[in-house]
Amino acid sequence: MKHLLSAKDLSHAEAVALLDTAEAMAATQSRAVKKLPTLRGKTVVNMFFEDSTRTRLSFEAAAKRLSADVINFSGKGSSLSKGESLKDTAQTLQAMGADAVVVRHSACGAAHLLAHAGWIDVPVLNAGDGTHQHPTQALLDAMTLRRWYNSATHSGDDGAPAAPGSDLDGAKLVIVGDVLHSRVARSNVDLATTLGAQVTLVAPPTLLPIGMEDWPCQVHYDLDETIAEVQPDAIMMLRVQRERMSAAGGGFFPSPQEYSRQYGLDATRRAALPEHAIIMHPGPMNRGLEITAQAADDPRSRVVEQVANGVSVRMACLYLLLADEGNQL
Ligand code: NCD
Repeated sequence: MKHLLSAKDLSHAEAVALLDTAEAMAATQSRAVKKLPTLRGKTVVNMFFEDSTRTRLSFEAAAKRLSADVINFSGKGSSLSKGESLKDTAQTLQAMGADAVVVRHSACGAAHLLAHAGWIDVPVLNAGDGTHQHPTQALLDAMTLRRWYNSATHSGDDGAPAAPGSDLDGAKLVIVGDVLHSRVARSNVDLATTLGAQVTLVAPPTLLPIGMEDWPCQVHYDLDETIAEVQPDAIMMLRVQRERMSAAGGGFFPSPQEYSRQYGLDATRRAALPEHAIIMHPGPMNRGLEITAQAADDPRSRVVEQVANGVSVRMACLYLLLADEGNQL
């Protein structure tokens, strides 16, 4: 694997290897000194052309914990506003000695273009391209789900995670909300099914993309019926992406209240979930819209753990793409 562009590109074995490496990274993060010397002398460039809090900080923390130097580039305040192209920007950064480029961009395919256009010759990690893919998010979600699922299924309780099993065989994941605009949903459908999970998407018809017949998942429109029928092990609430909706002229649902009533996770729906089910959200959350504050802060919520796992997963990705041969953890 030279780049990490899409969750779809990962085989079962590659996904498991990444998740196992992320677990090994996580184990180093409870030490008093968290830093590992693995990527000393390497430079990771974070190119964020779209807003981000978690993903950008997480990639930066991951690279620094592995002792790499980090250069942060944000679209705002750069020569992009003077019309500089992605190609020129990328070449400038490579000329400054980048050993890997992490890119987030509003255009679908931007990471693929950077990796394959021949402009630069270093590993490219996709940190989100438009509504298309966000592979490290899918990996951190799989890590969160796998840890918990294996502890719950193997030890019969849902307390502290036991040693994680290798995959998500039979796990039932329900993903709810703005699927249309969500690279997180697409990436999760790809990766979770590769790992053996059963994925069900729930959304209003206006928030589902066309061409879903090809997706390896079930699709439903009614959340209450889905919870009752599927009895999910995990429910993942998606952010209502209002910025992409207003750019498209709006009109995706009648009102925020109506959306919350039909598709929001509240106390009643929380109570209808199986007792063991966990609650996930990629963040940033619209509290009061797709999830109530009470559900977001529920003891079963894994939102904060997802963020922590994001650092371990990105350490694993950088390590596997960048460490020199023989450079052990
Ligand atoms: C997601 C993204 O940017 O795609 N957030 C994230 O990476 N933590 C989801 C979102 O913005 O809703």
